[in-house]
Formats: sequence, structure tokens, C-alpha cells
Amino acid sequence: MIITQTKAELEAALALWRAEGARIAFIPTMGNLHAGHLHLVDTAKSQADRVVVSIFVNPTQFGPGEDLAAYPRTPDQDIERLRGRQADLLYLPEASDIYPDGDQPATFVEVPGLSEQLCGQFRPGHFRGVATVVCKLLNRVRPDLALFGEKDFQQLAIIRRMVHDLDIPVRIEGVPTVREPSGLAMSSRNGYLGAEEKQRAALIYRTLSEAAEAVRAGARDYPRVEQEAADALASSGFSVDYVSIRRQQDLASPTAADHALVILAAARLGQTRLIDNILFSLDTNN
Ligand code: PAF
Repeated sequence: MIITQTKAELEAALALWRAEGARIAFIPTMGNLHAGHLHLVDTAKSQADRVVVSIFVNPTQFGPGEDLAAYPRTPDQDIERLRGRQADLLYLPEASDIYPDGDQPATFVEVPGLSEQLCGQFRPGHFRGVATVVCKLLNRVRPDLALFGEKDFQQLAIIRRMVHDLDIPVRIEGVPTVREPSGLAMSSRNGYLGAEEKQRAALIYRTLSEAAEAVRAGARDYPRVEQEAADALASSGFSVDYVSIRRQQDLASPTAADHALVILAAARLGQTRLIDNILFSLDTNN
């Protein structure tokens, strides 16, 4: 696996593969790679000739008081795991390579509307930082396809919209969430949880699954289903930011005509903010 730390090294390595006509897949990450990331690598390998992974803990997507300093950084372990999965190139830049003029560049990418709801309400500026860094990384790597985990479903929707609106020539692929046996979605932030908290955190998935099942069984008072799920989490010690049922396509509130839905939640357990979602479809007879 080639490891590059600068834009110039990255471009030199990619130029060779492009000259060979290789199909390039790209997986942007913030490192501390777990089974969910490695599943993205495996999926990418099945669809492309070369797989490029980036690891960059992007400061512009963390708000004041968030966990930028504490965010787990495990480059040696990550390199070993990527080698084990036969990734072809790791781009491991310093902040000065991504933001040579400091981390407050003059230009940001914003996807209004989609970015201000759900997590955006609780993390102002977060998705502007995500969209900006993903746009820069896509411009540097210029992959044929880029893969993102569905666990960050709002992020995926924002990236799809950005790519569509800005005519970025890449196919965006969402990859299903990988879960612990308990149902807990894999996340680098799970490492903040103690053993008991980790067990309790699986309640998010269980609660969302039950709510999705109630809707599939015919419940149509969505605010009530959302409130009951939020109350169930709160009574187990979570501080709930939101539980919300949306349509998959654009995260708008579902109408009676919408069948492809998603239920999303964000909740804190102690200091740890966890997100999860479940995609589901209504039977057209319901
Ligand atoms: O999902 C992540 O790990 C990050 O938000 C991303 C897409 C790598 C951008 O920094």
C-alpha cells in the first residue's frame, strides 16, 4: 500500500493509475478504522481496480466544545488494517496540506436546508465543514466512485446533493451500516463508552427497530411514534437530540405517497453523542 502525505504525492501516484485506465474508488475517513470502514474497503475492492482511503480528522467539522482534541487517532493500527484489506493507497495529510491557508478558508461549500435540520440543528456548521472537506478530497482524488457508510445518513444525503448540484463527476455509493452483535452501529465514538454504556447504547437500534416495525404495521401518527421512541430512550438514561421519521430521498417529512422511509436518531449517553438510523419501506398495501 502506498502512503502519501501531500497533495503532490497523491496526484503523482494517481496519475500512474489514471494513465493505465484504472477505475478508482475512494473512501474518505477520519481514521480509527473499525469493521464498518473495512467493509467499505471490501465493497470498493469489488467495484474498482484501485482503492484509495484518506484519513484526516477534519477540524472544520467540529464545533467549539466538541471532541476534536479527543477524537481517537490510531494511524499505525489503521495502516495495518488497510494493508490487511489490500487497500492500494492511503492519503494521510496534515491539516496544513488540506488547508494551506489555515482552517478558515475563504471558500466553503454549503448545502442549505438539508444541513440545518436533524444533526445540523445541534451541530451548527458541522455539515459545512463536511461538505467542504469532501469536495476538496473529491477534487484531489477525482475517483470514479466514492463510498460512504449509511450510518451517517444525513451526511450521505448532503454529499449526494452537493455532487449533483456542483456537477462533480463521481458516483456516490452508500454502504449499509455494520453493527455489533448487540445491534449497536459501529462508530469510532463507541470507544468513548464504558462496558455498561456500550450495552445500553444498543437500545438505540432496538428502539428504532421497534418504531420502524410499528410504522410498517400501520402506525401513521409519526410524531407520536417519534415521541414514544424518544421517551423510551430518555427513560433509559439517554439525552435525546431527536428521533425523526423522514423520507429517504431528501429527508423531507413523509407524505402519504412516500414509501421509502428512514427513522433517524441522535442521543447522548454521558458525554458520548451517538447517531443511528434504519431504512425501511412501507408495504404498498398499508
Ligand atoms: O464520516 C466521516 O468520517 C467524515 O465526516 C468524512 C466524510 C470523512 C469527512 O471528514
